[in-house]
Amino acid sequence: MATKVDYNFLGRSGVKVSNLCLGAMTFGSTDKGMFPAFYSNPRQLNEEASHQILDKFVELGGNFIDTADIYANGNSEKIIGTWLQNKSRDDIVIASKAGIPMDMTRLNNGVGLSRRHIVESLGPSLDRLQTNYLDLYQGHVWDNGTPLEETLRTFDDLVRCGKIRYYGFSNVCGWQLQKIADTAKMLNLNPCITLQQQYSLCERDSELEAFQVCQNEGIAVLPWSPLKGGLLTDKLKRDVRPDPKESRAGYLAEKLAEGKNWWSPWDEEKDNDNYWKTIDVLKTIAKDKDKSVAQVALRWLIQQEVVSSVIIGCTSVQQLEDNMGASSGWELSPEEMKQLSDAAPLRKPYPYGFISSFASNRTNPFARSVKMS
Ligand SMILES: NC(=O)c1ccc[n+]([C@@H]2O[C@H](COP(=O)([O-])OP(=O)(O)OC[C@H]3O[C@@H](n4cnc5c(N)ncnc54)[C@H](OP(=O)(O)O)[C@@H]3O)[C@@H](O)[C@H]2O)c1
Repeated sequence: MATKVDYNFLGRSGVKVSNLCLGAMTFGSTDKGMFPAFYSNPRQLNEEASHQILDKFVELGGNFIDTADIYANGNSEKIIGTWLQNKSRDDIVIASKAGIPMDMTRLNNGVGLSRRHIVESLGPSLDRLQTNYLDLYQGHVWDNGTPLEETLRTFDDLVRCGKIRYYGFSNVCGWQLQKIADTAKMLNLNPCITLQQQYSLCERDSELEAFQVCQNEGIAVLPWSPLKGGLLTDKLKRDVRPDPKESRAGYLAEKLAEGKNWWSPWDEEKDNDNYWKTIDVLKTIAKDKDKSVAQVALRWLIQQEVVSSVIIGCTSVQQLEDNMGASSGWELSPEEMKQLSDAAPLRKPYPYGFISSFASNRTNPFARSVKMS
């Protein structure tokens, strides 16, 4: 299968990345750490299967990989590290994250975005990845316990000493991201260049604020769970809980029903009419364009102005090839984009709806502030 991929700038940096990034959360297993039920799911891949996916991703033109210290409690980074040994490091853009605890006995200081924890996390990540620098280091989730200035100065120091090339954040809300951008400017520090956020046709709330900050500040959005954990495919049927052996979504739904997990994307969406409407529109457009449902769902994200690279996850080379087919060579028309957006419209609680009814008449391209769809 010859797939050509397109490349975008990684936010306000001069680095080009494939518009699909390979998410490594399916690489490796563990029953330790913060999410044992998740990382012991039978869909997790061993080293050999993960290396096959990495090889195919690069063969198809991908150059951007996302992992985190907590993915399978370090095993995801280790698997990428052994693969990287036979590759040209300079050709791969590697992103990792810190901030969520790996060791549940160290919940005082083995957590968060303090200078101490960021520095203590980076060394082992580099060791596991068998590299001496990260291209992108991301705060995994906002930390209420650390002054933002401390976190930003730490990332800036790591950029200056060459341990990381850039930094970004994940899982933050609008005011937090604006504060990150403003504080970095005020202190004359290197800027945050990316926001990794859950974003898909099923999860659009970040459009209300965080992505407007991204647009104004030149921060690239990297959507995670772009298929809502496998729900935006054509393999699910209404009122039929997915088979736990056939999909992670099914496994998590089973664990939730047994009270052994706290969340499942299937349970979140199964009674949501908008979700089923979205699946129907996806199916119609996919049929018209001779594409898969997953490809259309990913393409809707790729065509969002703020998105630089969509972080895909997969459990087989076939899924990878399917997903990579969203990257290049075709487009959704403006009408198709609208049909999909209208299937699951953005909720606008107060004051967003109130503001947008006025803001839509006051669009000033020179001000580039509020853009409400
Ligand atoms: N920053 C964060 O807090 C955060 C959180 C979560 C994820 N992430 C990042 O985002 C990446 C992707 O997340 P995700 O795995 O949840 O993404 P996703 O695309 O929403 O779901 C991926 C899962 O869907 C199924 N799937 C994928 N492609 C398919 C296809 N073409 N046809 C049918 N099924 C398909 C596979 O599971 P089954 O085969 O088991 O169905 C796969 O593991 C992660 O690897 C990680 O890098 C970041």
